[in-house]
Amino acid sequence: MRLELDEKVVLITGAASGIGRATALGFARESAKVVVSDINRSGGEETGSQIKAAGGEAHFIQADVSKADEVKEMIRRTVELYGRLDCAVNNAGYALNGRLLHEYDEAEWDNLLSVTLKGVWLGMKYEVIQMLQQGAGVIVNTASAAGIEGQIGAALYSAAKHGVIGLTKTAALEYGTQGIRVNAICPGLILTPATEPLMAIPEVLSSFEGAHALGRLGKPEEVAAAVMWLCSEGASFVTGHAMFVDGGVLAGKKAVSTLR
Ligand code: NAI
Repeated sequence: MRLELDEKVVLITGAASGIGRATALGFARESAKVVVSDINRSGGEETGSQIKAAGGEAHFIQADVSKADEVKEMIRRTVELYGRLDCAVNNAGYALNGRLLHEYDEAEWDNLLSVTLKGVWLGMKYEVIQMLQQGAGVIVNTASAAGIEGQIGAALYSAAKHGVIGLTKTAALEYGTQGIRVNAICPGLILTPATEPLMAIPEVLSSFEGAHALGRLGKPEEVAAAVMWLCSEGASFVTGHAMFVDGGVLAGKKAVSTLR
């Protein structure tokens, strides 16, 4: 099935690494115009270089998603560059795990929630303002399996990702009649720079692999494929959905305690 994303203007946050980079490269392969955004300039520029080396169109905009002025400017510059914003992927975020709820401190809550939850809301806020002017747009937010179920050791992260799904469903209801679709993806454990250090421990790796029905971890490209489909016309009647891209980790009771 052709995704027909060519010439679409797509903004992806957290695109310097992992799932965001794979998503940026995927959209570029479909001939979309890709705005690569991240707090990390060198990684973001590297993603842009990889896209251009493959003959694609990309532009890097540095932004910290937890800062309203930077997010507003990210959208303004996107529209200045390309005239519109067709698809936005609010993907930047990070996890804390390995401790119990009472062992985290207030600063950790504030930092994690400001990036992983508030950052998604800020992105949506300014994306929606632009998409309302256009009368069309698609937003995909990166949630997690931890946004569907609680996970021992990941209280703050799980709270943030449950919040991302709440924002997604509410926005789908609020803007659906104005041509804007809003969905979330819930990845299982995906091998990225964020998870590689933990997965380098053989016992941890085999425990996580075993928790997935498919018996393995996911690849960033497998998440990117779902994001691109949600942004395509093939998903024209899909909104308010939290899609599992999880190798079956949410299908039953095999989950391990520190799963992101
Ligand atoms: P990653 O660490 O490889 O990439 C995350 C990117 O977000 C990095 O480039 C980082 O610089 C950027 N970022 C962090 N804070 C930022 C901020 N304040 N402003 C702008 N950019 C910022 O991580 P990965 O694994 O690719 O994760 C991407 C998303 O997927 C995250 O939201 C994560 O929670 C989610 N996720 C990841 C899973 C996994 O197993 N890797 C599973 C489920 C969800």
